[in-house]
Amino acid sequence: MKLESLNWDSEFFEIKVGRIVFNNSESDLKKLLDEAKKQNYQLLYVFTDKNTMLSSEILNQWNGKLVDRKVVYKKEVSTNIKKDKFVFPYDDTSVNDDLLGLAYLSGQYSRFRLDKNFPKGSFERMYKEWLVKSVNGELADEVFVAKEADRIVGFVTLKVNNNNGNIGLIAIGKNAQGKGLGTQLINVCENYLNKCSVETLTVPTQLDNLQACKFYKKYGFEEDSVINIYHFWI
Ligand SMILES: CC(C)(COP(=O)(O)OP(=O)(O)OC[C@H]1O[C@@H](n2cnc3c(N)ncnc32)[C@H](O)[C@@H]1OP(=O)(O)O)[C@@H](O)C(=O)NCCC(=O)NCCS
Repeated sequence: MKLESLNWDSEFFEIKVGRIVFNNSESDLKKLLDEAKKQNYQLLYVFTDKNTMLSSEILNQWNGKLVDRKVVYKKEVSTNIKKDKFVFPYDDTSVNDDLLGLAYLSGQYSRFRLDKNFPKGSFERMYKEWLVKSVNGELADEVFVAKEADRIVGFVTLKVNNNNGNIGLIAIGKNAQGKGLGTQLINVCENYLNKCSVETLTVPTQLDNLQACKFYKKYGFEEDSVINIYHFWI
């Protein structure tokens, strides 16, 4: 088990952030937290595997909290071309407030929103940057939008790596949910991946996001991995 410095997170939040992947010894974890404190770390992300929960003793002693049970869903890309007639490629390079609101909605269960110890506005800054860099092609290969009467009511971002397409952000606005548009957003991703001969599609979410988990399972995704993420503000 080792302490890893996270440069991107440290610069973005302007606090010293590190990560520890837990290996089943709480006494070793305590030693690392102690070491991290001496090195002036302020926040540690501690990752444990699906069935490993940290004791309340270490959480209380070190100001730790479970903030995310991150699940990755996966499916084989279907070779049937599917219907997606209300969904279009987003061909603009700028973002408007509709899209920004949808990006925030996509992150409603994000640990960066739910953990109130981050500096105020951090979640919004992070999701805005994620959206902007998806639309400009840095973090996504494709962005698709769902439209109702010419207004954007939903979107998805997709990035291909190693023969796998991964969904970054996905949301349908509250008033447009439950009408099949979310399904069409996944359809358009599958059609795109199918054309590029990419074989699998993944999407990460949070187990607490029951609506999203139900939606992915109904679509045909299966659980690929689950990890627990703790934040220790030391
Ligand atoms: C998850 C989401 C994208 C689904 O989009 P949607 O357009 O509402 O979904 P669809 O209409 O295509 O629904 C397909 C299935 O998903 C499930 N589902 C959709 N909305 C649901 C809800 N409010 N509660 C429970 N299940 C729901 C249902 O099983 C539904 O099938 P059914 O209509 O036959 O019952 C959308 O609800 C959403 O944007 N949620 C908020 C943002 C979010 O959490 N994004 C995920 C980030 S990882």
